[in-house]
Amino acid sequence: MFYEPKKGDHGLPKNPFNSLVIPRPIGWITSLDANGVVNLAPYSFFNAVCYRPPTVMFAGGAGPSPDEGGDWSKDSRRNIEATGEFVCNLTTWDTREQMNQTAAHVAPDVDEMALAGLTQEPSQLVKPPRIAEAPVHLECRHVKSVEIPHWEEPDQYFVVFGEVIGVHIRDDLITADGLIDVGKLRPIARLGYNDYTVVNPDTIFTMIRPE
Ligand SMILES: Cc1cc2nc3c(=O)[nH]c(=O)nc-3n(C[C@H](O)[C@H](O)[C@H](O)COP(=O)(O)O)c2cc1C
Repeated sequence: MFYEPKKGDHGLPKNPFNSLVIPRPIGWITSLDANGVVNLAPYSFFNAVCYRPPTVMFAGGAGPSPDEGGDWSKDSRRNIEATGEFVCNLTTWDTREQMNQTAAHVAPDVDEMALAGLTQEPSQLVKPPRIAEAPVHLECRHVKSVEIPHWEEPDQYFVVFGEVIGVHIRDDLITADGLIDVGKLRPIARLGYNDYTVVNPDTIFTMIRPE
């Protein structure tokens, strides 16, 4: 089949696009609002984009419209642009249920970490806390936000870039050879619809690049 996204002529019951660019890692973003209230939400339009300096991005879609009392922006982006800081907590098999819970749309003054029964742990270089239950945390400083050209206001997406200025790795995830034990980490990733995948030891394979 072939379809043109702008025409929406795929003829399928659901837009297939987010079932095609998969699996997508999930950045579980903690930020603080101007009053210090903790915000937490999962973002699967998330990835690392370069090494030096290590930089990550996530793309946030439209939040509540002005009719709903909002300004179209989601809390994570608004907080990060206001405070300049955030933390990406890695999502794994063990925290999958809590991750899903924190996608609920709640008022900006609700502490979503407390709501999901997660424990706050102070960060070293930034003010937003880390999630103690997550085994890897990237402390980030906001670099810039880029608005993606969109068709209509509800389609809006902003890509938020952050420089990773501090990295926490749970010690037991580092092997005797000094490598990250990804099979033990068991990161989860987003497929399309409501589906996810997990990296297990038996789904990892190795390939050596040609010279
Ligand atoms: C696995 C998963 C991935 C998600 N990825 C995104 C995403 O990439 N961009 C986005 O705008 N919303 C995404 N969402 C929805 C947001 O998490 C949800 O809108 C959340 O309430 C936003 O919170 P905030 O307003 O506190 O930032 C995702 C939800 C789930 C469960």
